[in-house]
Amino acid sequence: MKLNHLYESQQFSPELLFSLFQNAEHMKQNPKFYSSALNEKVLATLFYEPSTRTRLSFESAMLKLGGSVISTENAKEFSSAVKGESIQDTIRIVSSYADAIVIRHYEQGAAELASQISKVPIINAGDGKGQHPTQALLDMFTIYKEINRIKDFTIIFVGDLASGRTVRSLSYLLGKFENIKIIFVSPENLKIGEDIKAYLIRHNIEFKEETDLNKVLPIADIIYMTRIQKERISKEDYEEAKGKYIINENNLHLIKQDARIMHPLPHVEEISLPLHIEQEDKRVAYFRQAENGLYIRMALLHHLLK
Ligand code: CP
Repeated sequence: MKLNHLYESQQFSPELLFSLFQNAEHMKQNPKFYSSALNEKVLATLFYEPSTRTRLSFESAMLKLGGSVISTENAKEFSSAVKGESIQDTIRIVSSYADAIVIRHYEQGAAELASQISKVPIINAGDGKGQHPTQALLDMFTIYKEINRIKDFTIIFVGDLASGRTVRSLSYLLGKFENIKIIFVSPENLKIGEDIKAYLIRHNIEFKEETDLNKVLPIADIIYMTRIQKERISKEDYEEAKGKYIINENNLHLIKQDARIMHPLPHVEEISLPLHIEQEDKRVAYFRQAENGLYIRMALLHHLLK
């Protein structure tokens, strides 16, 4: 199965996922073998919202594959969007300059719209409160590497589940695997969307909603923490939710020794562990998770462009 564009995580089949995992691992072990794989190809990164990991890992991935990168790190302010240019016109133009486009946009559905216009592959790097499919891809790769399986586990999603596009994308992807149990832990005002629950029901994925984090920590194989997204919610919702769910030294002991703490990052107070624990406790997986993003994005670019 070959993808032309990637705008939502439902597009990944289990077969494609495993093939990308295998290639990502091979690329990590054999960097020289791939160092000119995408020679003469150009990647455009169009970011209308801030990013550290996604933009830089895509750009690094392209460079490591021998390609080149053109970029607007703040397209909302420094591209012709400021002059009123539509996303459709921007994509028409950029797709004649580049061989693939990675786009992060503040509007849900922007990447899918771009894919209908673009002459070259579009990769969704986050569309408002919609999806972040390459984050779900690196999350699954991380789960696979950390617990050696992507079935038969319990995952708890914690935090702002109403605006969290990473949780939405990963939930959609989990719907394709067996014997996965999901527990959504969120403040009452930031609960997971009905569309995700309906999808999980259709795919026979067991899930429940919970408000007490410490009650469910001991049964989790994966704890997926998320930040309360101040920039996407009202001041009142933020004040009500902030500081409610935290992993720190007071509840770390509740987490199983073979479980893993993940986070798409950036994290703020929801993970408040001292540096020595972040460096030494193998349950802390979020920095390895971010590093995995580089190799899995190399595999994805190779898939789309080769
Ligand atoms: N996880 C993630 O999307 O991080 P950035 O916002 O830094 O790209």
